[in-house]
Amino acid sequence: MKKNKTFLVTTPIYYPSGNLHIGHLYSTTIAWVLRNYKKMQGYDTKFLTGSDEHGQKIAKKAQEANLSEIEYVDAQVANFIHLWKEAKIDYDVFTRTTEEKHKKIVQTIFSTLLAKGVIYIGKYKGLYSIEDEEFFTKTQAIEKDGEFYSPISNHKLIEVEQDSYFLENSKFEKWLLEYIESNPNFIIPKKIVNELKNNFILKGLEDLSVTRNNFKWGINILENQEHIIYVWIDALSNYITALNYSLPNDEDFQKFWVNGDEIVHVVGKEITRFHCIYWPIILKALDLRMPTTVLSHGWLITPEGKMSKSKGNVIDPLELFKEFSPEAVKYFLVSQIYLGNDGVFSYDNLLNVYNANLVNNYGNLVSRSLTIINKFFTSPVKFISTNLTEIDQEILDKIKQFLNEYIEDFDNYQIDKAIKTAISLSSELNNYIEKTMPWSLKDELPKLEAICSVLLNGIYAVATMLHPILWDKNLEIAQQLGFENFEFEQILNFNKFDNIIAQKKSIFLERKK
Ligand code: MSP
Repeated sequence: MKKNKTFLVTTPIYYPSGNLHIGHLYSTTIAWVLRNYKKMQGYDTKFLTGSDEHGQKIAKKAQEANLSEIEYVDAQVANFIHLWKEAKIDYDVFTRTTEEKHKKIVQTIFSTLLAKGVIYIGKYKGLYSIEDEEFFTKTQAIEKDGEFYSPISNHKLIEVEQDSYFLENSKFEKWLLEYIESNPNFIIPKKIVNELKNNFILKGLEDLSVTRNNFKWGINILENQEHIIYVWIDALSNYITALNYSLPNDEDFQKFWVNGDEIVHVVGKEITRFHCIYWPIILKALDLRMPTTVLSHGWLITPEGKMSKSKGNVIDPLELFKEFSPEAVKYFLVSQIYLGNDGVFSYDNLLNVYNANLVNNYGNLVSRSLTIINKFFTSPVKFISTNLTEIDQEILDKIKQFLNEYIEDFDNYQIDKAIKTAISLSSELNNYIEKTMPWSLKDELPKLEAICSVLLNGIYAVATMLHPILWDKNLEIAQQLGFENFEFEQILNFNKFDNIIAQKKSIFLERKK
């Protein structure tokens, strides 16, 4: 039996330090859509997400809420899970870094690195941002009135001095540079590569302090109870702890990591360097293969700028779902933002895009086509190639051409472009209806039947191309067309409706005001 290719896709694991907003939904939606697309392409897929629950920042939040750490994170994580359910986003594994299994494997990873000599004990002296869980040297930090601030987030830094274990990054510098240069798909979009090289790698990678002994909320190392593993090592490891790395039942790890075909980490731009520097080094030190691609997306901002509590412009997806279906919101996120750039989210834009693309274009195409077909035919509409006119043939050619463009764009992670191609095909089909005026052809049945069969095939093509995004909702269309599901391989088989009666059952997408 031929083995399917595998596709592993991950989201960042989110901090339960606050509620998730539409920016987090954006990250997760990209991963979910990629998973759906690859599944339709016949891959065996695995989709990982989770929560990053340790560290000083979370401990502080719990204290402020008068709760124990675990009580605090339990409640927050329940909200995450509720959100993904409401957003109709299904995943395979949700990893909590507070789970016993995750803790044990992280301890094993640390011990392995120590035994291999890539981690050593030393003294850490430097600046630390509690909010970002990140260390800086004085030269990296911004100094103002004798105080130091993070060059990235502007958060205040505190001076710390403590015993610490270190990961010997310097050992891997040359290898990492070569790896990044000889694997052009490792970091996408490509514009980030130079940024990473010039700002970090070429400046020289300092050894990374990977344990803390000034707080308790985290995973202690087995070698010394006082030392807690740095939260980024703990968090990054989720991508393999979820697959049972180092456990006897590691079938998923073998299948999706060791022998896997494609591994994609979806991450936001500010956490890209953790995934492109520390994570590859850890994997290399563990003698493990690299992910295929770190896919770095921009931020979602509002017309008032970056979302923040103080500006009061943080958009809660659960509030949006009261007005819009999750499909509409997810559609907006992946179709309107060029991956890698920041994108502006506004209620009005969402409304316009939803009405224009989904209701007036795609929804209308399905609705009017099925109305015409049901009016004139009580038996299946057959595809008879000898009845096709030039204009019918042109549309069939477009289906083929648009499908090729769509596949190429999707394969290159240009999801927005791929979706726009699907919507353009839908526009072409609507124009085709205007031009051919099928309602006036009741006395020219062969011509009418040809048009209707082209329309059915056209709808099938658009629906299939939109399926990775509109998944659940789109299955209603499949049902009306007389299919259980949509398959790319079926798009160009124009005889697929020959024995099927497509029936209009309900209005698929309602217009919103
Ligand atoms: N816990 C770490 C990730 C560890 S992964 C091994 C973390 N968590 S986070 O909750 O702060 O952010 C998670 C993701 O959400 C990041 O990829 C971040 O870029 C993304 N976003 C947070 N705000 C965002 C927007 N406004 N827009 C788009 N993405 C945003 O970092």
